[in-house]
Order: sequence, then structure tokens, then C-alpha cells
Amino acid sequence: MRGKFITFEGGEGSGKSTQAALLVTRLRRLGIAVVQTREPGGSPGAEAVRHVLLSGAAKPLGAETEAMLFAAARADHLERTIRPALARGAWVVCDRFADSTRVYQGAVGKVDPAVIRALERVTVGDTVPDLTLVLDLPAEAGLARAAGRREGADADRFEAEDVSFHARLRDAYRAIAAAEPERCAVIDASPAPQRISDEVWTVVCARLGAAQVHTPGVDADEGDTGTSNAGTIDPESGGASRRAALDAAVP
Ligand SMILES: Nc1ncnc2c1ncn2[C@@H]1O[C@H](COP(=O)(O)OP(=O)(O)O)[C@@H](O)[C@H]1O
Ligand SMILES: [Mg+2]
Repeated sequence: MRGKFITFEGGEGSGKSTQAALLVTRLRRLGIAVVQTREPGGSPGAEAVRHVLLSGAAKPLGAETEAMLFAAARADHLERTIRPALARGAWVVCDRFADSTRVYQGAVGKVDPAVIRALERVTVGDTVPDLTLVLDLPAEAGLARAAGRREGADADRFEAEDVSFHARLRDAYRAIAAAEPERCAVIDASPAPQRISDEVWTVVCARLGAAQVHTPGVDADEGDTGTSNAGTIDPESGGASRRAALDAAVP
């Protein structure tokens, strides 16, 4: 059975990387094979493009060219990492994906929506996320967190934009979630990480369904594009016992 594809979206410092890691831990605890990945990047070719994008080297070329570079990186990431993982039955948890291009280069960067849609059709095709968790936080709070995380290092290409840019990002993410409520869930990203993680878990269980948390025959020792992983599949563990484990794990 094809694995589930979950993406985290939201502005700088909203807690995407933190929450992606917490979700991956919870899924692996149930013995689910998970590939944890991120954009831009997630495959060797895409990681090379990541540097060009986040260093700001591509900024003078304009938002449309940036959108094409993000799309090129995404195509490689999908082909090399995401689709093979889903086909094996592994779940994929991805920190940023196509909504980031819609928001940063589209809604805020003013790239023609037809160009954004065309790039998405070519790169994403039918590999649309099963669930997108939109972490929602006021721009000022997110920027403050991102600055704290850097500890004096330089802001990247997008962190360096002003607060109104980040406020527009937030509005654009909320608009996507409102337009696609079946795929997206907006999560209040202001509480403590553990509380957000509990909320994320409730949504994952409700949307993707306990009965779906069943990946028979899949080796949990998946190669990550980022962190190492742990966790094994119990061959005796069928849908019912996994369902019980999942229910027990939900607060
Ligand atoms: N819920 C939270 N409350 C306070 N600080 C947080 C929370 N979640 C994450 N952080 C901190 O804020 C910073 C940004 O979090 P991170 O997960 O890197 O965000 P993102 O990946 O969305 O940019 C990090 O230093 C992280 O430790
Ligand atoms: Mg991050």
C-alpha cells in the first residue's frame, strides 16, 4: 500500500522543523516506516540548488526564476526521494513543499498564478500531499523565534525580508488552507511545542485514520535525507493492534 505523504507549511520560525521531527518520532514509535525530508533539498541534486536559493544568489534573477529553481529542485526531490518512498509503503514527512512556492513566489512574489500552476503540474503531478499542516503564527513571533535560532548568524534570503512580507505569507497560507480544507489543517503554532505536537497528532489520526496506519512488510529502516531513524515493523502487528497503539497514543 502506498504510504502517506504529510507536509508542514508556515512562515519562518513557525515550528515546522520542530513539529516534523516530533511527528516522525511518534509515527516511528508505532513501527511505521517514515522518511523525513525537507525543501528546498531532500535529494543530492535538490540540496545543491538549495544553497543557490537560500544564499540569495538567485534573488536578482527575480521571483519567477526563483520559482523555476524551486520547481527544478522539487522535481528531483520527488523523483529520487518522495515517490520511491511512498511506493515502498513508507510515510513521507516533508518540511515545506509546493505550497511554499505558491505563497513565497506566487502570492507574495507576484509570479503569475498560471506559471505557478504549470510548474506544479509538471513537478508534483498527482503526488499531492495527503495532509498539509499549516503552522499559523503572527509574523513578529515567527521572526523572533527565527532570530533566536540563528544566534547572531546572518538571516537567510527569506528571513531577511521585512515584517510585512511575513504577514503576507501568513495570509496567503491561510487562504490556501481555506481553499483546500480537505488537504490542509491550520494549527495554532503559538503554544509550547509539546502542545502543538499533540494537536498535530490528533489531526493526523483523524484525517489519515487509524485503520490506515498499517504498512505490512515494510522495513522501517528507511534512509532519511536528514536525521537517522529508529523503529521496526512488528510482522505480527496487524491493523487492530496498531489501531489500539495509535488510540492509546492520542491524548
Ligand atoms: N512552540 C514553540 N514555542 C517557542 N519556540 C519554539 C516553538 N517551536 C519551535 N521553537 C523554536 O523556534 C525556533 C524556530 O523553530 P523551527 O522549528 O526551526 O521553525 P521553522 O522550521 O518553521 O522555521 C527554534 O529555535 C525552535 O527551537
Ligand atoms: Mg525549519
